[in-house]
Amino acid sequence: MKIALGADHAGYRLKDVIIPFIESLGHQVIDFGCSCADSVDYPDYALEVCERVVAGEADKGILICGTGIGMSIAANKVPGIRCALVSDLFSAKATREHNDTNVLALGERVIGPGVAEEIVKIWLETEFSQGPRHQNRINKVKSIEDRFAIHP
Ligand code: RB5
Repeated sequence: MKIALGADHAGYRLKDVIIPFIESLGHQVIDFGCSCADSVDYPDYALEVCERVVAGEADKGILICGTGIGMSIAANKVPGIRCALVSDLFSAKATREHNDTNVLALGERVIGPGVAEEIVKIWLETEFSQGPRHQNRINKVKSIEDRFAIHP
């Protein structure tokens, strides 16, 4: 798979740990930065990554900030993105199976690199549980998105 990655100044260190790990799993990484501790704004990186995912230029996205919260809030504003902020292995699996999430948010100040790698591996390797039960709920989420969409 092609995985788009983005981080702010509070997440780039974890991003730089995660990138070779994802490559070692056989995936291709597209790194949208940032790459140093200079202060930046997480929505800029969330938008960059999420645009690539909805355009089909990347199969999935991973976003990292201090908590993962800002990245997940921003990502979920992009129509077509289902982003989960994950800090544990159970949720990493469940959010693929139940929510078919296409973007994962992580908090560098919340979890260590070992847990982050395990989360990423499970999240990348778990398939969506096909079938009407979860798909109907995802369709309802999409209908909320459609209801509030601005049509020029
Ligand atoms: C940056 O200080 C921090 O606010 C940001 O990385 C993130 O945690 C926001 O949700």
